[in-house]
Amino acid sequence: MNEHVLRSLRLAGVIAREAREYGMGLVGEGVRYLDVVVEIESLIIRRGARPAFPVNIGVNEVAAHFTPNHEDTQRFAKGDVVKVDVGAHVDGYVGDTAATIEVGTRNWQELISASNDALRIALEVVGDGVPVNTIGGAIERTIKERGFRPVVNLTGHSMNQYNLHAGLTVPNIDDGLSARVRDGMAVAIEPFATNGAGQVVNGKLGNIYRVVAERPMRDQKALELFSRIQADFGTLPFCERWCVAIDKNAPSLIRTLLRHGLISSYPVLREIKKGIVSQAEHTVVVHGSTVEITT
Ligand code: CO
Repeated sequence: MNEHVLRSLRLAGVIAREAREYGMGLVGEGVRYLDVVVEIESLIIRRGARPAFPVNIGVNEVAAHFTPNHEDTQRFAKGDVVKVDVGAHVDGYVGDTAATIEVGTRNWQELISASNDALRIALEVVGDGVPVNTIGGAIERTIKERGFRPVVNLTGHSMNQYNLHAGLTVPNIDDGLSARVRDGMAVAIEPFATNGAGQVVNGKLGNIYRVVAERPMRDQKALELFSRIQADFGTLPFCERWCVAIDKNAPSLIRTLLRHGLISSYPVLREIKKGIVSQAEHTVVVHGSTVEITT
């Protein structure tokens, strides 16, 4: 693995880790979701990286793909199970990491331990040449032994420069697929555990978007925003908040861009039986026989 790539992955990992820990410390009863994500993203930028995606806040049955919009007023409540999923990139090389915290109660500590333990064991298994279903099987077994279910349709993923999903997926079950982790890969491993059915479904829209295609359009203001989106976020996911910082009319311009198919939006992923979901995630870099946890 080239020195520049490795150095960038390491720096992104260190910054993502600090951002995750800082964010976990901010979550508390009565705290606004919006303040937490803004503080985390500011820290990433102050440290010299960029957010690789908007900070995801997943509360209770929400597993992934929600970030508050610029005027969100939601606050964390006592008893909430909160996932904070953070990505930082340096020159497009990403550290992706997540953790779960319970606000003011201790009702879900076993669920939170299930995803933490599954991640720890997956990190012991991963390495050059290891089939992804071996990792998935270890995650599945660990979570089931603790009395919960892995979320079967959420996966870890390999990452390339400016690409969060570079082709290899790491399941949270033994799905029988034997693609292998290889030397030179950066891979995010992210077990999700739940007391629900173990499956997520699409909910309402989560304020997170990505560029789909350049298309001709009449609306000059929308096209101007689109150019800024391409310049600032490239192929990485972005959100309504970041666009409002560029243009205060972004909410309506985003609707126009969506309607014309220049961007698409990610739905919130929630557990199908409204089960509570926990998540733990680290990024690893495989170089030679070494597996380095960067986050
Ligand atoms: Co990830």
